[in-house]
Amino acid sequence: MARLTYYGHAAFMVDTGKHRVLIDPFISGNPQAKVSADELSCDAILLTHGHGDHIGDTIPIARRCGALVVATYELAGYLDTQDVKNHPMHIGGYREFDFGAVKLIPAFHGGAVEGVEGVCCTPCGFLFTFDGKTLMHPGDTSLTIEFDLIGRMHEIDVALLPIGDNFTMGPEDALEAVRMLKPKLVVPMHFNTWELIAQDPEAFKKSVESGTTSKVAVVQPGESIEI
Ligand code: NI
Ligand code: MN
Repeated sequence: MARLTYYGHAAFMVDTGKHRVLIDPFISGNPQAKVSADELSCDAILLTHGHGDHIGDTIPIARRCGALVVATYELAGYLDTQDVKNHPMHIGGYREFDFGAVKLIPAFHGGAVEGVEGVCCTPCGFLFTFDGKTLMHPGDTSLTIEFDLIGRMHEIDVALLPIGDNFTMGPEDALEAVRMLKPKLVVPMHFNTWELIAQDPEAFKKSVESGTTSKVAVVQPGESIEI
């Protein structure tokens, strides 16, 4: 069994038993995080995009741990200038690493990089496969028809889906995403970090579990579940 830990917002750790993989480690300044960035160690970081609430503590954690950061080509190029070990990929690309296999999926979102003027980096989402299980972290995105294609081509065990609205899809669009993706388990994310993205995850759970065959696990920040 692998362990999925939620740090709040869109930040997760997947501990496969052999490797620790962080996704979008926004810890410092994350009002939901119950750990400090210094306490986290990992082998790899999957980074969906450069907004501050996603790139977060990527650079200091990656430098300290010597972790490999997987990101789109443009963002990887920026990380290169920051002395961070990185692997550039792009949308549609698949690659097997020692910590698992990664496929980049489209995210309809913005490409600014926190603290860097005039840079635009393509945002993405990830399908992360390890020990025969596939976890999806779509990054920040709207509902898109691509979810239908992804659902037909991949068996998704766990889909981490934004429900916060305003910057990403909200609960109604996330429900439609679940219908297309058909994941076994959904974990809502990117909500309640700030008042602007306040949502009721239990109401979302009810709508998904009454309208689809997927289950929803509402994971509290700081909590872990077995996946
Ligand atoms: Ni964003
Ligand atoms: Mn965000």
